[in-house]
Amino acid sequence: MNVAEIQTLEHDVLVIGAGGAGLRAAIECSAQGLDTGVISKSLLGKAHTVMAEGGMAAALGNVNPKDNWKVHFRDTMRGGKFLNVWRMAELHAKQAPARVNELEEWGAVFDRTKDGLINQRNFGGHRYPRLAHVGDRTGLELIRSLQDHGVHQGIAFHMECTCLGLLLDGGRIAGACAYWRDTGRFVIFRAKAVIMATGGAGRAWRVTSNSWEYTGDGLAMAYDAGAELMDVEFTQFHPTGMVWPPSVRGTLVTEGVRGEGGILLNSEGKRFMFNYIPERFAAETADTEAEALDWLDGKEGARRPPELLTRDVVARAIKAEVEAGRGSPKGGAFLDIASRRDPDFIKRKLPSMYHQFKELAEVDITKEPMQVGPTLHYFMGGIRVDAETQMTAVEGLFACGECAAGLHGANRLGGNSLSDLIVFGKLAGSGAAAYIRSLASSPQADDAQIEGIFRSATSVLNRESGENPYLLHEELQDLMGKHVGIVRTGKELEEGIERLGALKQRVANVKAHGQSQYNPGWHEALSLRPMLIVSEAVARAAHMREESRGAHTRIDFEGERDEWLKYNVLVKRGADGELTVTKVERPEPPRHLAEIARAKIEDLEAGKVGADAPED
Ligand code: FUM
Repeated sequence: MNVAEIQTLEHDVLVIGAGGAGLRAAIECSAQGLDTGVISKSLLGKAHTVMAEGGMAAALGNVNPKDNWKVHFRDTMRGGKFLNVWRMAELHAKQAPARVNELEEWGAVFDRTKDGLINQRNFGGHRYPRLAHVGDRTGLELIRSLQDHGVHQGIAFHMECTCLGLLLDGGRIAGACAYWRDTGRFVIFRAKAVIMATGGAGRAWRVTSNSWEYTGDGLAMAYDAGAELMDVEFTQFHPTGMVWPPSVRGTLVTEGVRGEGGILLNSEGKRFMFNYIPERFAAETADTEAEALDWLDGKEGARRPPELLTRDVVARAIKAEVEAGRGSPKGGAFLDIASRRDPDFIKRKLPSMYHQFKELAEVDITKEPMQVGPTLHYFMGGIRVDAETQMTAVEGLFACGECAAGLHGANRLGGNSLSDLIVFGKLAGSGAAAYIRSLASSPQADDAQIEGIFRSATSVLNRESGENPYLLHEELQDLMGKHVGIVRTGKELEEGIERLGALKQRVANVKAHGQSQYNPGWHEALSLRPMLIVSEAVARAAHMREESRGAHTRIDFEGERDEWLKYNVLVKRGADGELTVTKVERPEPPRHLAEIARAKIEDLEAGKVGADAPED
């Protein structure tokens, strides 16, 4: 292989991933005068960002003026079961409003209140209506606005291009190797900094809201390069995915349905969420149908309905109802908005849901209930980053958005993902710009690394025989669903880890037939390794964490344990690159933030707590 003959492109900074986080990071880099390139595995506008449909959380206080960053911070910490990196939760709550307003300046067309302000809706775990939204297409509008803005800033977009590995110069980043998905040709990107914004790895599970791109590439590449992964056992099962027909099982049904008044019913017609209110949220949750109706009518002081408990709680409740034999005919729960809101309201507020169910399931949601069940939606854990700069443990490698860990702790609140992308996308961009300014010399990767990465990719085509990548992927999905699902036990996880080990050996011998041009089998084969690295990391971290916290439920270790208010950090160690998991102390937040996070809401609202918190 002659490396000099391979197409080579050069940027100051390379952003891998073109969802909300990647785009926002790229805009920042470009605004700071950097030559910026963005790689997208698929076409622009197709990122998982569009699956955050119901809105972006920011304490604008447009609908309830009592809202402010402190309450948002408190909600986020409580939702994350206090495992969040507190500084990230603080930065997020403080900066989200400015980022949302900026998005509007860049052309995002939000729904409005009667007074012409950006409208905000209710979502699980948020004390006040906090989600700025565009019907049920908010993620799409976010992406559209960022794309329009970025394209006009002269950012270079490289579409249908998949990254295979990162390049290093000693310990610092020097670029990445990739291939064009259509021609199969290789390309080398030389860069002084790389920002990883590749999302999660939902495709390792069969029932998922994630589309084909989400195979954990960013996590695996960062891990291979020496970055740390953190708390990856916290995988979010969104409570409401479609359960029927099979071809669309897992497709997201926005939490906006419940935010707009939708309720969950079992096969006996019972509103079962009243039976699943955890102690922590009891004081803030309606416990009778009458009070929940008062809330729907907007009655001052009425507590929120139990359908708006955090996602981990609602997802487990649906699973429990199904297992108790009270599920819907297709194995989920009924989600009913038709009996609560009139058809015009539903079509206006939830147009995509209306069309989605009409077209995909032949269900008219203005007349009949939907059938829904949990779907793997989001990774709370990911690449460990510095809160202020988003730099990883590898010099010059940054991460933001879903592939980065820290903000959401053990469970993410709906709507905090879109605001996460724009807050930390910007911070990653400025972090990368500052890093590049500090460099005395440009990093250079040697040819041997490049050759190694490309040879590994072609070996999949060049071996005489080997296993079918599609079948291996299906086995992985079965395994993850069975052993690393919504509830877990040590024994199941141990068996899962053993099976993953065996699968890893077989994946090392996967065979894609044909040549590299237009070869989906080859793409599938190449995605198996990152998926396996991430799957093993999730299974091992889940096995290590002997407690139940947020989205990680161990039925052999019920409840949160104080000794586990710690991070699980995973790194590649040793000559054979073995994955090791270490329990790491979580730095205590400053006193004022600890008090805000644990405060009674009445005390926070009355200014008895947090009054001395700096606004920065
Ligand atoms: O339900 C939803 O619209 C998803 C939002 C999110 O994941 O933030």
